[in-house]
This record gives sequence, structure tokens and C-alpha cells, in this order.
Amino acid sequence: MYQIREYRDADYTAVRMIYSTGFREHVGTVYLQALKQPWAQALLCGAFLLIQVFFGSFLTCIMGVGGVLLIIRMSVQYFFEQGIQLGLNEDLSDIRSSYMQTGSKSSFWVAEEKGSIVGTVGILPCVEEPGAWELKRISVKREFRGRGLAKALCKTALDFVARHNVRRVVLFTSMVQTDAHKLYNTIGFKKEEEFVWPSLPGRLIKFMVFKYSHGTGDVMSF
Ligand SMILES: CC(C)(COP(=O)(O)OP(=O)(O)OC[C@H]1O[C@@H](n2cnc3c(N)ncnc32)[C@H](O)[C@@H]1OP(=O)(O)O)[C@@H](O)C(=O)NCCC(=O)NCCS
Repeated sequence: MYQIREYRDADYTAVRMIYSTGFREHVGTVYLQALKQPWAQALLCGAFLLIQVFFGSFLTCIMGVGGVLLIIRMSVQYFFEQGIQLGLNEDLSDIRSSYMQTGSKSSFWVAEEKGSIVGTVGILPCVEEPGAWELKRISVKREFRGRGLAKALCKTALDFVARHNVRRVVLFTSMVQTDAHKLYNTIGFKKEEEFVWPSLPGRLIKFMVFKYSHGTGDVMSF
């Protein structure tokens, strides 16, 4: 049986690991999203035709297309790692000072089972929307999923801010985190905005970011 408790400094490495692993597991889906883009298909067809014209060998064409697929895969992987590093270097670089300043309305929790950290969540004032709080770093180790851990973690965070009279909580997720969308709908969040991730890779892949919101008055309903 798991227990949910506040973050302690000894959890630092485990929390960062759960975040990185949970983020990284979506790389395959983003790669497929990249391959759906017209520029990727044009690149693959172009490589095939060019090699066919210059070398006239079907096997070389297949190898060339394989090479292009590999380059796209490695580029997606590279941008993913950049995204992970961003999180690790932002709030997760010093979890205590990001989330747990005395008297603040922010906090960070972990789910612990048999002495191991198996899930995480944090909540803090939203930079993009002053006056709202943002739920962040929701992640559960794969082998502990489907048992209500994420739901319990989110409820802990929402109850906490509701006690501090926070009335609006938001979160940002992406088009590929489909399990998370189900979780957010279950606990009363509503999608209110979607936009392309404002960056060159985001525009190239048409990588959509979703903003969800929750009135903490609804917190008792799940
Ligand atoms: C999203 C995530 C945190 C869910 O964790 P979890 O502990 O399995 O979630 P829970 O067991 O608490 O499920 C809560 C609800 O979400 C839904 N849900 C979660 N995963 C689901 C899945 N794979 N299929 C269907 N529904 C799912 C269920 O409907 C469940 O509601 P219910 O209890 O009313 O049936 C987990 O999949 C994860 O860590 N993913 C990788 C990291 C990530 O993408 N984080 C989100 C960042 S925005």
C-alpha cells in the first residue's frame, strides 16, 4: 500500500528520475507525429527518388530512406532531451526552494511504497497566469499505474491549495500525454486552450500543448 507525503531532500534523485522517465516514454509518439508532417514525407520520397535516379538500386534507396528516418528519430530524441533538461534545470533543480518555502501556498508530494518513491506532484503559482496555481510534475512509475496514485496525488495538491483559498488551478500538458488527459478529465479539469508549442521544433511537428483548468471549489467531487 502506498502513502502520500510531503517531499524530503532525500527524495531528490528519485523525483528527478521519475520525471525524466515519464517524459521520455512519449518520444516514440512524437516521432510518429513528426513522420505525419508533409515535410517529413516529402523528405522521405525525395531521398528515395534521388537515390533511385543516381544509384538505380532499390536496396540503396531503402538504406537512404532508413537513414532519413534515423535522422528524424535522432532529432526528435534530441529535442526531447532538451525539454527534459529544461524541467530538471527549472523547478526540479532545487525542489525545496521552488515548492516548499515556509508560508508559501506551494508544495511538492511524493507517493511512497515499501520505501521507494513511485509517484510525484507539485503545485506552485503559475508564471504564465498570475493569480492561478499550476499543477506540475505529475508522474507515476509505470509498474504502479492504474491504481489511483496519480488521482490521489492530484487530490492532495488540490485539497492543499483549496485550504489556502486558491480558486483556480491550471496545468499544461501535450497532445501525446493521453493517459494524463483521462486523469485530468476524471478529477474535474477542463481543457480550455490549445496551441502549438511556441518553438521551431514545435511548429515543425505541429506539437500541440493543452491548457487545462480547475476551480478548486470542485475538489470534493472526485
Ligand atoms: C498520467 C499518469 C500520471 C496516470 O497515473 P496513474 O497512477 O496510472 O493514474 P490513476 O491510476 O490515478 O488513474 C486516474 C484516472 O485516470 C484514468 N487513466 C489513467 N491512466 C489511464 C489509462 N492508461 N487508460 C485509461 N484511463 C486511464 C482513469 O480513468 C483513472 O480514473 P478512474 O480511477 O476513475 O478509472 C501516468 O500514466 C504517468 O505517469 N504517465 C507518464 C508521465 C506523464 O505523462 N505525466 C503527465 C504530465 S502532463
